[in-house]
Amino acid sequence: MGASRGEFSSRIGFIMAAAGSAVGLGNIWGFPTQTASNGGAAFVLVYFVLAFCLAYPAFMAEILIGRYGQANAVTSLQKMSRTVLQKRFAFVVGFGGIICAAMILSFYGILAGWMMSFAIEPVANIMGQEWIAQWVVGQSLGRNLLFTVLFMFLTIIIIRKGVEQGIEKWSKRLMPMMIGLLILLIVYVLTLDGASEGLNAYLNPDISRVLEPNLLVSALGQAFFSLSLGTSVMVIYGSYISKKENMVTIGAQVTLIDVSIAFLAGLLIIPSMYVAQAQGLKIFADDGSLIAGPSLVFEVLPTLFDSMGTMGLFVGFAFFVLMSIAALTSSISMLEGPVSYAVERHSVARETATTWIGFGILALSVTIVVNIEFMLDLVATVSTQYGQPIIAMLCCVFGGWIWHRSSLLAEIKLGNEGVENSLFWKIWPWYIKFICPVAIGAVFIHSLL
Ligand code: PHE
Repeated sequence: MGASRGEFSSRIGFIMAAAGSAVGLGNIWGFPTQTASNGGAAFVLVYFVLAFCLAYPAFMAEILIGRYGQANAVTSLQKMSRTVLQKRFAFVVGFGGIICAAMILSFYGILAGWMMSFAIEPVANIMGQEWIAQWVVGQSLGRNLLFTVLFMFLTIIIIRKGVEQGIEKWSKRLMPMMIGLLILLIVYVLTLDGASEGLNAYLNPDISRVLEPNLLVSALGQAFFSLSLGTSVMVIYGSYISKKENMVTIGAQVTLIDVSIAFLAGLLIIPSMYVAQAQGLKIFADDGSLIAGPSLVFEVLPTLFDSMGTMGLFVGFAFFVLMSIAALTSSISMLEGPVSYAVERHSVARETATTWIGFGILALSVTIVVNIEFMLDLVATVSTQYGQPIIAMLCCVFGGWIWHRSSLLAEIKLGNEGVENSLFWKIWPWYIKFICPVAIGAVFIHSLL
């Protein structure tokens, strides 16, 4: 097994892949929507604090567990377990993460399919195919099925190719393209009327709101979803990093990229909302709440693009292509979790494992599409609001309480000789032992109440 495992060929390859997993619909769609519905800049502020103080340490625990174990989540966690009971616990946590990744992919594929369909609309319009343009943006069973299947096929094709030729190659191509497109769109939107009011709502926090319980819960959930925590994904990606790399800096860079892209997405979407409002679209209800809610990007943005005339067709196309790209580099990571498990634990060939697991998840997606009203929300809630925080918290418990302290410190030291003088060395092991599990647990319990 050891010799045939994939490895990222370069540091930048890992950073692009991990950032590719982290940056997705959560950043470009979830974050701005949550910001708009939770008090604007106050949410942004709380999100930043929680992302760096709770999500980053938990993220470090997951990638370090993976690099130490050099294997899928279950095997990696079992390597650090000493007793039979701990090994069983390792199985539950590792496999729980894998199931969570599969569940997230099953609904994420549907949302990502919508992004692809919205990218087709302007193309159909340019080609004068109005009925196609209307069909691709209308909610229908046929449209949902077609685009979910298309998106899942793309995911399966990339993962069949493995770590270097699949994940790394495509993340390295797609990620910079996405960032470039995002920046171009921001520059454009900021020149429009109404954008400055949006900037103010986005950047000028109402400090009295920062301790609102709902805001805290949403911000933490958003940070965990965004860093792909609690899904076995970062454990497996960590296992593909060479022992020569400095994990502390790499982890910080990925977190920084993830948070910055969420911030950039907000910088595009929040001013866009106000631009659309200046053009007469009603965005907030009279009590100040957001009208569009989760459908924000599908209602506000297309209206905005429409108002730009022919230029809007290109901008709209670029934006939804960007969303589809971001979703694809995330979905491939979700499929890698279960696939690596099947390949390493059950000696199945990668292509076979990818095809079977991919189609299994697709079958679940199709079931969700057919019962969309009732299942979409259910699967999303179970996996992201319950699964992710619990598994991420248990990974911290593993790192803090089960992993032998000297071997944990030795792992941090690999590729990072001077680490003993750093703050990370002094604080982090203690931090994931006490602070992370308690804080994550507290927010989780609060969210249940
Ligand atoms: N982080 C991704 C996003 O923000 C979603 C994701 C969740 C990816 C869990 C992998 C695992 O869209």
